[in-house]
Formats: sequence, C-alpha cells, structure tokens
Amino acid sequence: MSVHGGAAGSGGSGGGSKATGARMTRISVPEIVARKGKDKIVCLTAYTTPMARVLDPHVDLLLVGDSLGNVIYGFDSTLPVTLEMMLAHGAAVRRGSEHACLVVDMPFGSYQESTEQAFRNAARLMKETGCSAVKIEGGRDLAPTVEFLTKRGIPVMGHVGLMPQSVNTLGGYRARGRASDEAAGVMADAVAIAEAGAFSVVVEGVLEQVAQAITARIPVPTIGIGASADCDGQVLVVDDMLGMFGAFKPRFVKRYAELADEIASAAASYAADVRTGAFPGPDNVFGSLKKSS
Ligand code: KIV
Repeated sequence: MSVHGGAAGSGGSGGGSKATGARMTRISVPEIVARKGKDKIVCLTAYTTPMARVLDPHVDLLLVGDSLGNVIYGFDSTLPVTLEMMLAHGAAVRRGSEHACLVVDMPFGSYQESTEQAFRNAARLMKETGCSAVKIEGGRDLAPTVEFLTKRGIPVMGHVGLMPQSVNTLGGYRARGRASDEAAGVMADAVAIAEAGAFSVVVEGVLEQVAQAITARIPVPTIGIGASADCDGQVLVVDDMLGMFGAFKPRFVKRYAELADEIASAAASYAADVRTGAFPGPDNVFGSLKKSS
C-alpha cells in the first residue's frame, strides 16, 4: 500500500495532532485502519489552502470532497465536478496541510467506465495532488474497481448509503435503509467494498441501526455522516458546520459557528466605513510625501 509522507513506525492509535503537540508527521493510511474500534477518527472536508491550514492540526483526515461542486462552485449537485477541479483543489489542500491523512474524491465519470479508467485517473490524483488515498462512491458493482486500485498501490476509501453522485438513480437525497431490503443492500455494499480492500468506508445518510450494524460487521473504519455516533469516525462538510450555507441546516449537521452571519456583519461594517469615509483611516494609508532635496 502506498503511503504518502507516511509516518510508519511512529505507530499507535492516537494519531495525535499539532493542536495537542503530539506529532508533526502526516497520518498514514495504515494508522487510520489501526484506529478501528479505538480512538474516533475526526474528518472534515477542505477545498482550499487557507482552510486546510486552519483545520489540519485538529483533524485526522482531510477530505477534498466533490461536495466542492456545491460549496465552492454553486452547482446543485456533484455531477458537474471535473477531474481538473479535484486536481486543483486537492493540490491546494495538500499545500496547506502537513498532519492529516489526505483523501481526494474521484468525481462522477472519472472511474465508473472501467477499472483501467479508474486507475489512470486515481494515479493522476495521487501524482498531481500528493494525496494519500482516493474516495469512490459505490457498492457491490464497484468492488472490482476497489480491488483493482488497491492491488496497484492506490488506497481507496469507499462511500455507501446515500451516494450523491447517484442522485438520479436513487431519486433524491433521502436517507437510505428504512426498508429492510434497502438496509440489507447498504450492508452488502459496505461488506463488498471492505472485502475488495477499501481501507475505510464513508457511510452516509442511513438509519442509525444500519450504520451500527455495518460498523460492527466490517473490519475497517466506518466514517459516518448522517449515520451514527457509533461509527469509527465522523465527517462533515466544513461549510455546513461553520454555518456558511444560510438558513438551511440538514438534520445531520451540527453548527459550530455562524460564519455567514459574521461575514455579512463584517461586510456591512466595511461598506458603512467606505461610504462615510472612515476607511481607509490614517493607519491604512502610506503617509505623506517627503520633500525631495
Ligand atoms: O463530497 C464530500 O464532501 C463527501 C463527504 C460529505 C463524505 O463525500
């Protein structure tokens, strides 16, 4: 397994963080796997260098999610996201981080066609962003792809349950696993992906019991979003938890800040200062001309 910037040998399940002064090296994929059933794995999405710098000391995993289609580009789904976008944002997050294990999403259309297509694009993501692993959405049907990649040195994070790239076949963004056959399908997907070699599986938008059962059943860490506190780790879209998305707050999101309100208030203060002439003040200009001799 290829482990970029690995900390092999620094060992332990703790992983630690710069915030607690424990370590400075990047957390490796095997270290994430070793956290199964032990210390919780903390994951947030990031899309830019400055945000990665702020988040990196506090998290174990940084995910450059294709949610950047919604968050950064204003699309109403992740389907328009391109490989070029993921390459650019993955490299930006890599430049802003040195501690968290870095995972980059493969966008819709970049891996579903064939195992060879998946390898070619995953290899580009790893070479050009310096990420440690890629994430793909899909269950039993994608298991051969997971196996193909992992056997060729590309660690893969799976993603089952609510899979936003399949919004058109799933018929929307509703939680999965309410009916017993659907729950069994999500379980079968997670098991297939784990058996194919995924080092970890995101479980999104499923009933709590389904996420608990998957976590108990598969030998690799589950990372929940709208799933269960019993998952081995949790992930949130960073803009959701920072309150950057206006009034709408899905049930599975907890807001830890209201940054949109703070930014609006800062913009209003700036606008007022410019209009009244209070900005720029004496401290914000370059002084007066010196007389030339
Ligand atoms: O794209 C994304 O940000 C994701 C996470 C929400 C798991 O897939």
